[in-house]
Amino acid sequence: PGPGWTVAADVAVVGSGIAGLSTALRYVQRSGSGRVVLVTKDRLSTGSTAYAQGGIAAAVAPGDDPVAHMVDTHLAGGGLSDPHAVNVLATEGPGALRWLIGLGAEFDRSEDGALALTREGGHRADRVAHAGGDATGAEIQRALVAAVLAEERIEVVEHALALDTLHDPATGAVTGVTLHVMGEGARDGVGAVVAPAVVLATGGIGQVFAATTNPPVSTGDGLALAARAGARMRDLEFIQFHPTVLWLGADARGRQPLVSEALRGEGAYLVDADGARIMEGVHELADLAPRDVVARTIARTMAEQGVDHVYLETRHFGAATWEKRFPTILASCRANGVDPLTEPVPVAPAAHYASGGAEVDIDGRTSVPGLWAVGEVARTGVHGANRLASNSLLEGLVYADRIAARLAEGPRPVPGTGATAGSVTPLADPAAATRVRTLMSRHAGVLRTGEGLAELVAELDALARPTAPVTPGVAAWEAANLLTTARLVAAAALYRTESRGSHQRADFPEPRPGLRIRPVVVRLEGDTA
Ligand code: SIN
Repeated sequence: PGPGWTVAADVAVVGSGIAGLSTALRYVQRSGSGRVVLVTKDRLSTGSTAYAQGGIAAAVAPGDDPVAHMVDTHLAGGGLSDPHAVNVLATEGPGALRWLIGLGAEFDRSEDGALALTREGGHRADRVAHAGGDATGAEIQRALVAAVLAEERIEVVEHALALDTLHDPATGAVTGVTLHVMGEGARDGVGAVVAPAVVLATGGIGQVFAATTNPPVSTGDGLALAARAGARMRDLEFIQFHPTVLWLGADARGRQPLVSEALRGEGAYLVDADGARIMEGVHELADLAPRDVVARTIARTMAEQGVDHVYLETRHFGAATWEKRFPTILASCRANGVDPLTEPVPVAPAAHYASGGAEVDIDGRTSVPGLWAVGEVARTGVHGANRLASNSLLEGLVYADRIAARLAEGPRPVPGTGATAGSVTPLADPAAATRVRTLMSRHAGVLRTGEGLAELVAELDALARPTAPVTPGVAAWEAANLLTTARLVAAAALYRTESRGSHQRADFPEPRPGLRIRPVVVRLEGDTA
């Protein structure tokens, strides 16, 4: 059956984090009269952006400059970052940050009124702007949501799970997106936004792992949708594990509270149970080494010592620093029975960020005409094998405007005309979701082996063949998206027979120069090229 209802727009934006909200706003600002339908899986404010703590990187300090930001981004990226994409990020970053401030986002400032800037792993200069101490994402989200709600040319549809693209059977171009809307009056059930441009801004895939910093909505829907539409996927093996989430016990599942890297930027350091510092002598930046180095060192320490967490020492901060700079983390530690003023904070790595995604050009176009991608779901080439801290919010901002500019300057096709065809969105047994997460954390975590990844691929393939009929519904569509996403990540990780950035193979512990220039591109069937 086709969609029960349709709505037409010039642009359909799927997702409401920094990337989606900025794309919608920038497009209506630039186009003059263009209309956007912005759909989001939960509420407008529910997504990863609001959880970002540390901040947003941009070379705005007097002694800093975009070239230094580029160098740090490349060093973190393990040789796989795309120079053009990094150049765009670093040079357009300060302007993008100013746009956000102009929109009303209030960042922390020093006494002289200048932006207060801190440092995080891999940065060799203070260039991370923050808000509310450690509530940067929440402030950015607040400002963007307010601006979107005030814009009458942006229609918002909440509680809408994006299912699949519509396309023109003659040209293959995307002509819209089908949705399942949960309880929104006239727009209830399966419907469609018909639009000549669909921008995916659906965020991350952290929920394919058992423990993650990502919220429950991050089930890889946009990535799986893009793969089904035939888009090329790249760098999917590079899943970044945040070194420090609050350790809540060996059986903790789902979203884990983040313990920002900005704490280490302010002088916190990692220790084992005996109080011995674990990052000293490992990297010239010690506790501020790039994130992959820190996560790997923690994982090795845990394996060698037979423990499931280490500690972050912050007791030298004192109450004033904790309360002013890190009120969110202080509250979440205390809510979980840890008082950082009197004890070291137990921490462990968890899945945090997909550095790869749907491959896009420098203006956000995927390989499928009419389908665009921005933010975590996209692979711009900025992050390479490992994203530099606080570059993700910036990437969403900068590349959203590039997409908006291209869409606004292009010819305006009449929306809602021309032939469209849909496809049947796959279903999976919702019970498979837990198994996918367990398998992914076991075999595709911080340290991987070829044997484990091959087993993972076989198990995921078996799970994709349900033994009983599955009833259509959000849980079944999400389970299918989790499976598809996991399968793509597993194929890419198996294929990359080296260790580089956040992809670490115990059976291939060194980088292999030949693989630096041979991209791993995966398609839905799981084959690689
Ligand atoms: C953090 O605050 O540690 C997370 C920031 C990021 O992922 O870039």
